[in-house]
Amino acid sequence: MTNAGARTIAFISNKGGVGKTHIAINLALQFAREGRRVLLVDTDLGSANADLRLGIRPLVTVNDFFEKRADIFQCLVPTEYGFHFLAGKSGEFKLANLAHQQKIRLLRAFDRLVRDGGYTDIFFDLGAGIGSRVLDFALVCDECIIVATPQDIVAAYAALKACWTRFTRLSDMHYFKSKTGGVHFTDGSHSGRKLRMNFLVNQAENLREAKGVYLRILDVARTFFYTPEGQSVLPLRYIGGVPYVHALLRTAERSKLPALVLYPHHPFSKAIGEITGVLLEKQSVAPNRLDVPFTDRVRGVVQAWVS
Ligand SMILES: Nc1ncnc2c1ncn2[C@@H]1O[C@H](COP(=O)(O)OP(=O)(O)OP(=O)(O)O)[C@@H](O)[C@H]1O
Ligand SMILES: [Mg+2]
Repeated sequence: MTNAGARTIAFISNKGGVGKTHIAINLALQFAREGRRVLLVDTDLGSANADLRLGIRPLVTVNDFFEKRADIFQCLVPTEYGFHFLAGKSGEFKLANLAHQQKIRLLRAFDRLVRDGGYTDIFFDLGAGIGSRVLDFALVCDECIIVATPQDIVAAYAALKACWTRFTRLSDMHYFKSKTGGVHFTDGSHSGRKLRMNFLVNQAENLREAKGVYLRILDVARTFFYTPEGQSVLPLRYIGGVPYVHALLRTAERSKLPALVLYPHHPFSKAIGEITGVLLEKQSVAPNRLDVPFTDRVRGVVQAWVS
């Protein structure tokens, strides 16, 4: 772990039900197996359900934090899968509808978790939707994973476009600045502005179809993503595909166990293992996380909200 604290990864999608929660849970488990100290945050505040999927009934949730009954650290619960969990609270809060001060409080609490939680990785399962407040939570993270399915290419493209638009807006307002004066979210290979997003295709018939979805998005993206200096950028990295496995996930949901535990040798689990490998490759860590600590990015976004 660096001085920058935990590495932060946000899971987003424009459309609901694409598989973010299943994927975040199983990746958290696989990361833990690889020796990482992981915290999974159910940020899907309106319809939190990761606790159901994990078969745990947490005594404390993020609700206790909002109601000021507990410090954010007191809301963390260990799971039997080697990672920690911060439960959302169904039906009471929605990230998009949080009062302004609550959003700022939550973002600052995340900042404390990143700096002082002792985690190597924090996953934010952000729930569906690409409103600017949700995106701002995603854009302060080191890595953002857009989860798409072959059926929802348009929605996936919309998510990418919304991230890019919001990112450039925050950059233009100079809320995302690195120490050297450049705008962060660069992948180091480019002197201009660059936002790197990760793309994961779930519910694919096979890996070929998954990669094909990515290539189709890239094809359209090429015509849209330019820096203000006119440089073409492709702010999207393919991290892998996950097969369509309806019966397997139904069983996992019914038994309230992660699919990886139930079916360790299934192609689903293999895919999760491969994606973990990609995310844990040394060079896969965006250099921006070292340039601009999470704290500063949080400060930048809070500044943007306040002004
Ligand atoms: N790889 C898959 N194969 C088949 N079905 C899947 C797959 N991944 C997800 N699903 C189906 O999609 C449903 C929703 O999954 P999940 O709750 O993980 O999605 P989500 O993106 O988190 O949804 P929400 O946006 O509502 O939070 C699951 O109950 C399952 O039926
Ligand atoms: Mg979900």
